[in-house]
Amino acid sequence: MSSHPTILVTGATGNVGGQVVAQLRDRGGVRVRALTRDPSRAVLPDDVEVVGGDLSDPEGLDAALDSVDAVFLSFPTLQADERALELVARLAKHAGRIVYLSAEGVPDDRGAPSQGIIGSHAVLERLVEDAGVEWTFLRAGGMATNTLGWADQVRETGVVRGPYERLSRSLVHEADVAAVGVLALTADDLLGARPVITGPEILTHVEQAAIIGETIGRPVRYEEIPPEEMRTVILDEWGWPAETADAALEAWAAMVDNRDGVTTTFQELTGRAATPFRRWAADHADDFR
Ligand SMILES: NC(=O)c1ccc[n+]([C@@H]2O[C@H](COP(=O)([O-])OP(=O)(O)OC[C@H]3O[C@@H](n4cnc5c(N)ncnc54)[C@H](OP(=O)(O)O)[C@@H]3O)[C@@H](O)[C@H]2O)c1
Repeated sequence: MSSHPTILVTGATGNVGGQVVAQLRDRGGVRVRALTRDPSRAVLPDDVEVVGGDLSDPEGLDAALDSVDAVFLSFPTLQADERALELVARLAKHAGRIVYLSAEGVPDDRGAPSQGIIGSHAVLERLVEDAGVEWTFLRAGGMATNTLGWADQVRETGVVRGPYERLSRSLVHEADVAAVGVLALTADDLLGARPVITGPEILTHVEQAAIIGETIGRPVRYEEIPPEEMRTVILDEWGWPAETADAALEAWAAMVDNRDGVTTTFQELTGRAATPFRRWAADHADDFR
């Protein structure tokens, strides 16, 4: 890679991608180019080059990819799957390195079956691996940002209604995932690696809701609803296909008895402790108030 490489960050207005932009700027020594579908609406720092482009339209990405050395790829899983082959080929034509935001649970065995969101990430990993570029797959555990989906209920009622109150996860801060992504983009130690990045502690839905409440100074309670009721919410409000909804509900049900693991990857790679959920909630307290 050149001494002052240009890095295209996709998902730059989103959770992890936004943090990658911020941390690359803090680090310096690279040119940051941020991709968004609508540059007129994107809120990004003035010194970041903002380019328009849609990952589901790979042919329209040439300007965004001009003279790019590396790409941070946050893929709109399930929304652009049918264009994934062309997209990865396009990225690989321009950039020598792709750091892909994947997910914990993708099987290492390429032949192993996987479905739903994990299946989509497995396909993307294989495409990138076969594209002849340097790569790193950030296998992120469940993101703490998933609980932002509770924000309306927290504000309006203080009661979060959802499935499986005992479902336990080691939710990871988007800044921690991004920090590993920045290492993978700017140094060679993580080439060909698939780091699994989780939060530092396992918390049930009930505990997560209580911590959010303690952080904003108002009680927040988790109320379990039957999986069938949640299935209706996923289909009608989230707009997911039935197959994906069923795969998600099955995966969540399994997490009640098979608790998420905690990895030490973040600490080993960065020398810092992974961010606890309580700190994440404080960083996002305004989203819940
Ligand atoms: N949530 C989890 O627990 C979890 C765990 C592991 C991995 N992941 C993966 O992380 C990735 C990001 O997920 P997230 O939910 O956190 O999303 P997010 O960061 O909120 O993603 C939204 C971002 O994606 C961009 N985007 C959406 N569709 C696009 C398109 N067609 N072309 C270009 N950019 C597009 C948006 O940009 P504009 O609107 O500005 O265009 C926005 O910056 C996904 O692949 C997800 O599967 C999530």
